[in-house]
Amino acid sequence: MQADFAIIGGTGVYDAELLESPEVETVRTPYGDVELVSGVYKGKRIAFLPRHGRGHSVAPHRIAYRANMYALKQLGVTQVLATSAVGSLQLDCPPGALVIVDDFLDFTKSRVGTFFDDDRVVHVDVTDPYCHRLRGVLAQTAHDLNIDVRAGGTYVCTEGPRFESKAEIRFFQSNGGTVVGMTNVPEVVLAKEAELCYATVCIVTNYAAGLSALPLTHEEVIEQMAVSIGDVRRLFFEALLRLDNSRDCRCPTAVSGNSQLTGVAGEEADA
Ligand code: HPA
Repeated sequence: MQADFAIIGGTGVYDAELLESPEVETVRTPYGDVELVSGVYKGKRIAFLPRHGRGHSVAPHRIAYRANMYALKQLGVTQVLATSAVGSLQLDCPPGALVIVDDFLDFTKSRVGTFFDDDRVVHVDVTDPYCHRLRGVLAQTAHDLNIDVRAGGTYVCTEGPRFESKAEIRFFQSNGGTVVGMTNVPEVVLAKEAELCYATVCIVTNYAAGLSALPLTHEEVIEQMAVSIGDVRRLFFEALLRLDNSRDCRCPTAVSGNSQLTGVAGEEADA
């Protein structure tokens, strides 16, 4: 089924119970098959993609990011609402807080982060990586629903699957990070390359390493997700009702509107 919108769920978000007549489908892409659920919510065609696969079977560094984004594009999706679990780098952003991030720091190491790894040279602009229009709709919707969100923040993406060391967290804090997670890069970058609008609501599941006396566990992440996911679902489904297919932002031309930056490999020596 074709879809206009997608919800990408992170840890602890595996169902699509709000969709009418949901269908499980497998989308074939050059990067592998993607299993997702599509359906209709109050007239909106939505694809629901569990980022880690069904049952959290794929670790963050092994997620098929390109396949996921390519599959959404292939279904006709243009706008993506994502959620992901994060640790907090700020004491005033405790477990349970929701953060609509607006920037990222990329500390991943071994991921292919582009669709343009052939003879095309494309340097996509990520000055505004997360679609400002979608972020605005999410923030306004949260306000109207009385859901507390922090609008703005920098997502530090680590390679995983391990959690961070205390020194890494101190480094990220002193360099402007707000939250730390393992999945937003390259997801947000690939969305931009695919000219999709993309925004993420981060669910703070824990204080990052060293900010609390206790060691981090995956279980506490899952537990806090379970508590917070209801609000994020409410927020997403209400935001979807407020969205239509008009996209008054720069995302639809993120690559095609930048023709001076595209060329054949070798033409731009030091770009
Ligand atoms: N670090 C990295 N990823 C995470 C964390 C964390 O503390 N919590 C949830 N995802």
